[in-house]
Amino acid sequence: MVIISCVRMFDPWDTMVAQSTFTNPLIYSDFPDNDVSKGPDGDYYFSASSFQFSPGAPILKSLDLVNWELIGHSVPSVAAFGSTFEMQDTPAYVSGVWASTMRYRASKGKWYWYGCIGFSKTYVYTATSVTGPWAQAGTISHCFYDCGLLIDDDDTMYIVYGQTNISIATLSSDGLGITKTAQLFSGPGGASEEGSRLYKINGFYYVLGDRPSGTTYVWRSSSIYGTWTYQTLQTGVSSPIPGGGLIDQGSFVQAPNGDCNKWAVSYPFPGTSAAPLPARNGTDAFSGTSPGPGWEWNFAPDTTKFSINNSLTLYMATVTNDLYKSRNTLTHRTDGGSPIGTVEIDFSGMADGDSCGLAAFRDSTAWIGVTRSGSTYNLVQVSGATQDSSNKWATTSTGNTIASKSISVSRIYLRVSMDVRPNGAKSATFSYSTNGSSFTSFGSIFTLNSTWQYFTGYRYGIFNFATKTLGGFIKVISFTTSGSS
Ligand SMILES: *[C@@H]1O[C@H](CO)[C@@H](O)[C@H](O)[C@H]1NC(C)=O
Ligand SMILES: *[C@@H]1O[C@H](CO)[C@@H](O)[C@H](O)[C@H]1NC(C)=O
Ligand SMILES: *[C@@H]1O[C@H](CO)[C@@H](O)[C@H](O)[C@H]1NC(C)=O
Ligand SMILES: *[C@@H]1O[C@H](CO)[C@@H](O)[C@H](O)[C@H]1NC(C)=O
Ligand SMILES: *[C@@H]1O[C@H](CO)[C@@H](O)[C@H](O)[C@H]1NC(C)=O
Repeated sequence: MVIISCVRMFDPWDTMVAQSTFTNPLIYSDFPDNDVSKGPDGDYYFSASSFQFSPGAPILKSLDLVNWELIGHSVPSVAAFGSTFEMQDTPAYVSGVWASTMRYRASKGKWYWYGCIGFSKTYVYTATSVTGPWAQAGTISHCFYDCGLLIDDDDTMYIVYGQTNISIATLSSDGLGITKTAQLFSGPGGASEEGSRLYKINGFYYVLGDRPSGTTYVWRSSSIYGTWTYQTLQTGVSSPIPGGGLIDQGSFVQAPNGDCNKWAVSYPFPGTSAAPLPARNGTDAFSGTSPGPGWEWNFAPDTTKFSINNSLTLYMATVTNDLYKSRNTLTHRTDGGSPIGTVEIDFSGMADGDSCGLAAFRDSTAWIGVTRSGSTYNLVQVSGATQDSSNKWATTSTGNTIASKSISVSRIYLRVSMDVRPNGAKSATFSYSTNGSSFTSFGSIFTLNSTWQYFTGYRYGIFNFATKTLGGFIKVISFTTSGSS
């Protein structure tokens, strides 16, 4: 699962000049395993993987396949998947929402989302409106690994799934049970095939299947349990970003002008320019009473330990010195090759022993933050908090303090600037400001790690934890992602 994407987010400049072509990547951000389909309104809807982050299964919407907006999530809280998704016992890092599927079913006037969680069973969520509320409709005691849903012309629901050996299930009419399954075919040469999607076009059934080494197959049959044959659609297609990985997992969709193209870096613009979407970079001041769709918690949060009312209050939720065991870290995807995130925090409510800050968050993490010890507040930069991918993501280090100095303010801007380009420096650097306009570098350059096992790219993580006792809190005034493309 690669971190590049298929679609580019809205840039205000684009509305001023008529687009005649567009260039990949459309979204330089982490929305893996896309399942893109047309909704009842003729617009395009994109469902993606989100692993342990909550809410899960983000949804993007586009009118033209080029400009996309993040509009919500199909899984309201990963707490539904069990206590390990609330950070109990062995927290289920990297597990959670993997290559799932979402479609609109006209007969019921509902959206359906299916995802196999933790190789065990498949969860079903439905919603009347794609923006929610989504609710769990049931579970199916069978794992539809890497699944693709088709709602046939006669309203029968089929799901294609599997890894290497690809199967199809016919679902019961309520979509919550199975009436038949059969193994259909195996990846050519017995090799790994994954990310299957199922379509019906001009009377034929098609399965799009991927090999992680960068080959896409198209399988075809005139009947669903019939004889399937394949052709190789494309092989060895590499990223449009220099140094990026191979293309893996996608969807087959017809553009507004009727085109269906093979992979390319640039294409003619597929329709008329859509209405402007909200800019993706900017400041979120936490207006309203819930986080916007750009935010996902690291695991399901302790909902008694935060509140939003035109600012975000994070109460210390865990006594720990380990960020990977600290609940209620609020994460946000990065955008672009050189993303910059800045958080403004009022930490006057912290108690003795508390820490808070802004992390470049992954299985190898660094952060800038504030710690309180007695009546002293220190600005700190910590690097090298790590997890062991081969041992259930156990914490192997809580990190080392690279820089520390006492401060006398109660409100601060903390910034992380990253270079996430595959051919770039792969670095995070840290700075702070007391007035939001003049930033001072702090700490050392941290080298980002891109080993594949964690799947998810670096995110911004706003965190807080207590090392002595609960009771303290911080106020997160605003968060800004900046830069121009
Ligand atoms: C795939 O199916 C074949 C034949 O049914 C079986 O021998 C093989 O073990 C299966 N492979 C996997 C990876 O499940
Ligand atoms: C939100 O804050 C406003 C002003 O600070 C206050 O009047 C209101 O009661 C708060 N609402 C909730 C739900 O706490
Ligand atoms: C912000 O603070 C810096 C140094 O602390 C100062 O040089 C600068 O003038 C300040 N800017 C504003 C707009 O207050
Ligand atoms: C990245 O993580 C892997 C696995 O933990 C480790 O072996 C490797 O040294 C790390 N590389 C860097 C540059 O930190
Ligand atoms: C957001 O800012 C980053 C950092 O400069 C940039 O790389 C990215 O292209 C911007 N995204 C948009 C949609 O403007």
